[in-house]
Amino acid sequence: NPSFKIAIIPGDGIGKEVIPEGLRVLDAAAKRFDIRLEYKHIAWASCDYYAQTGKMMPDDWKQQLQGCDAIYFGAVGWPATVPDHVSLWGSLLKFRREFDQYVNLRPVRLFEGVPCPLANRKPGDIDFYVVRENTEGEYTAIGGIMYEGTERELVLQQSAFSRRGTDRILKYAFELAQSRTRRRLTVATKSNGIAISMPWWDSRADNMAKSYPDVAVDKQHIDILAARFVLQPDRFDVVVASNLFGDILSDLGPACTGTMGLAPSANLNPERIFPSLFEPVHGSAPDIYGKNIANPIAMIWSGALMLDFLGQRAAHDAILDAIKQVLADGPRTPDLGGNARTADIGIAIAAAVAG
Ligand code: NAD
Ligand code: IPM
Ligand code: MN
Repeated sequence: NPSFKIAIIPGDGIGKEVIPEGLRVLDAAAKRFDIRLEYKHIAWASCDYYAQTGKMMPDDWKQQLQGCDAIYFGAVGWPATVPDHVSLWGSLLKFRREFDQYVNLRPVRLFEGVPCPLANRKPGDIDFYVVRENTEGEYTAIGGIMYEGTERELVLQQSAFSRRGTDRILKYAFELAQSRTRRRLTVATKSNGIAISMPWWDSRADNMAKSYPDVAVDKQHIDILAARFVLQPDRFDVVVASNLFGDILSDLGPACTGTMGLAPSANLNPERIFPSLFEPVHGSAPDIYGKNIANPIAMIWSGALMLDFLGQRAAHDAILDAIKQVLADGPRTPDLGGNARTADIGIAIAAAVAG
């Protein structure tokens, strides 16, 4: 039987509320499909751990995670006690970089039964992937503050685009587009305003396109691309974007399909040299933490993506079918207009998975 060791990192806020529901559903899938899942529960990579130790993770964090097949991650961030750049650069962003999880794959889909904030859109109209570069680009800690505290104060923050880093994310996106029926790839750019990195990014995309003549490529500036997510979401199939543009598009997409509470993500090291990390797109949601009303579906769907990446396609499909079934006629949390609690959703989906 297939057997996997999974590191479980709840993190902060609603990460701690949705992880148990994710595990409930993973357990149901593991039982039905005869998969052995061994969990390694981890209390660090959280702001609670920071409060006790003054750091986000122990020094041997990498050794502790390296032996795992995947990381199942809730959310990190509790800005009331730890500044966000400290908690995130001390945990999630470190995982993405040190484990070379350079693909952040974020599906955007409108489901039956989910109220769509866009007029006249039905399931099937919105079904695309945001492929986000996940290790470089605008996310750097390169730069500094000069003349601090004076009138001359000047802040410089560098972006970093490597040829290797750019080509590998483009290649992943082209291949994903090629595997789909519509074979469309939208390249997010801003080569009109960002005069060095973005024209160069476009030229790498043009170069890569030569190897994929069957993929229809469409470059769009990020401003109008964002507008078209709202106005013409049906035209998107695969969207590839730099780290920051991909971050913004992957919240805008789920907003167009009803709620942040559904959006999953896969932080992939496609070469499988390091463990990949699976997490909701959303954060720790301090505004609703403690009420047990967080929607756990983003966490649950992320678990399905994890099983798929581990080769367990049937288990993935069963979880996705169960999610669809519960969204169509099951209980729903307040973000979807219902009054169910977090655990009600986990229980309903786990029951549907068990069959
Ligand atoms: P957020 O995603 O935590 O919350 C944004 C809004 O969406 C809130 O109103 C929240 O209640 C709602 N929401 C989010 N998830 C929901 C769910 N599952 N069900 C129902 N409603 C949901 O974003 P934020 O407020 O900008 O960030 C809060 C903290 O989380 C910050 O510390 C931030 O840095 C961190 N964060 C972490 C991650 C991550 O770990 N991957 C991602 C985003 C934000
Ligand atoms: C995400 C989050 C992170 C990001 C934050 C918490 C650093 O918003 O996973 O989308 O910007 O990548
Ligand atoms: Mn984000």
